[in-house]
Amino acid sequence: MMEAIKNALGEEDFAKLSKKIEKKGMTMVLGKELLTNKKLRKMMMTSHKGGGEKRLEGKENNEFEIRLKSHHNSSGVLDEYLESRKFTEEEFLRKMDGPPKNVPRVIYVHTPYCDKICSFCNLNREQINGSLDEYADFLVAEFEKYGKYRYVNSKPFNVIFFGGGTPTVYKTYQMEKILKSVRENIDLAEDYEFTLETTLHNLNDEKLEVLNKYGVNRLSVGIQSFSEKGREFYNRTYGKTEVMRRLRKLKEKFKGEVCIDIIYNYPNQSVEEVVEDARIIKELDLGSSSFYSLMVHQGSDLSKDVDAGRVKMLENLRRERLLHDAFVEELTNTGEYYPLELTKIAKKGRDEYQYIKARNNGGDTLPIGVGAGGKIDNIGIFRMSKELSFFIEKTVHHTTFDKLSGLMQFPIVEKQGIKNILNDSEYTLFAEKMGEYVGKELLTEDKDNYYLTSDGIFWGNNMSKALLRHMADGLFKKQI
Ligand SMILES: C[S@@+](CC[C@H](N)C(=O)[O-])C[C@H]1O[C@@H](n2cnc3c(N)ncnc32)[C@H](O)[C@@H]1O
Ligand code: SF4
Repeated sequence: MMEAIKNALGEEDFAKLSKKIEKKGMTMVLGKELLTNKKLRKMMMTSHKGGGEKRLEGKENNEFEIRLKSHHNSSGVLDEYLESRKFTEEEFLRKMDGPPKNVPRVIYVHTPYCDKICSFCNLNREQINGSLDEYADFLVAEFEKYGKYRYVNSKPFNVIFFGGGTPTVYKTYQMEKILKSVRENIDLAEDYEFTLETTLHNLNDEKLEVLNKYGVNRLSVGIQSFSEKGREFYNRTYGKTEVMRRLRKLKEKFKGEVCIDIIYNYPNQSVEEVVEDARIIKELDLGSSSFYSLMVHQGSDLSKDVDAGRVKMLENLRRERLLHDAFVEELTNTGEYYPLELTKIAKKGRDEYQYIKARNNGGDTLPIGVGAGGKIDNIGIFRMSKELSFFIEKTVHHTTFDKLSGLMQFPIVEKQGIKNILNDSEYTLFAEKMGEYVGKELLTEDKDNYYLTSDGIFWGNNMSKALLRHMADGLFKKQI
């Protein structure tokens, strides 16, 4: 994000903006700046292009020169080929006045605050400075406002996901107010999934009671590493023993599924350490674990340490691969856990992760809260501040490419599923590129499916992005 802002503004203006952000916090400053700064607004419209990762040595052609470590890097290819028009707020609200289409529907709620900042993080969040009463009231007002629209109240939602930042950073009474408002204003389907992202140090028994009371049934806990070395590097609270004790207690008291996030490939991480992380996930019987390779993002404390020479990041793809494979192998070797997505391993019959399935299958997402993004039908929505949102057209091509990129996040790609979203000429281009990947042993195939090999899982985001580029090149004349 910060790198994209820097590119958009140029060095001098970026330096001025950074000073303001350091003083007042990202959310405050960007919210105001976006009202007046055209360059920044244009950048936000295309900010889902991703980037900002360090360069790694790679495979023989440039599609695989830098390993893409997250899904965000795979989307936005079409913005280089097609112009999208802006929608007005009135057009968006008109859409909200109508019924939803027959697609999975998600509500994403963003809390852009944390009480402690992790070294690697440049997500849309800032350190809390004062009370969150006002923000909690703002969310309540948003649920009340949107709950009145036909799009929301004519059909139950499948998924609600509170992301961050840290959505458990509120005081217990604030959390109760927010969750109560969700349940009063939004109908959830019978088999709904209701997730909160959290960290262990800002959960307590009272808050857990509130989560249980309002039907939260999935917690996504940022653990990042169980090893003392990793936890210190990431600036996480508690050591390994306390983290394990708290996770055990959480499993006892929380009525829903407990899932965690792991980041591997911190400097000098050993294979034993990553294997130990996987072993503990099995021992604690957790529902699932994400496993992200550490990214150095501009604007994070880690990036400042790297720039100042205080931390050395070895760009060693072989080591990254070794750690990746060791983690996957240890977690899946009993057959109880399986790769659900490129960066997620789940226990069979446990974490369904409906949130990502809905989003990756082209579902709608109603975004609520500062920093939230989503889309309703053909309108992309970005909430920049309490007052300001952007609405941008998702053309038929954008929607198709989003779905395709979403389906490429799964280890099995069903051919019929792809045929359902592509026309004949699009499918020909798709099959051409997938055939190339089969030749490179990134995939195997039978008559029904493509299957990602372990190379394919490791390089999955690169494959997806290069596939979209190949298709866009074949379908459209490049405009810029
Ligand atoms: C939306 S975040 C935040 C969740 C929660 N606030 C926490 O403390 O973990 C979701 C996950 O993205 C991953 N992540 C964030 N920044 C990353 C980075 N620089 N490199 C790799 N993974 C990252 C982390 O595993 C994190 O838990
Ligand atoms: S990783 Fe989570 S807790 Fe840490 S700073 Fe980022 S959003 Fe906050």
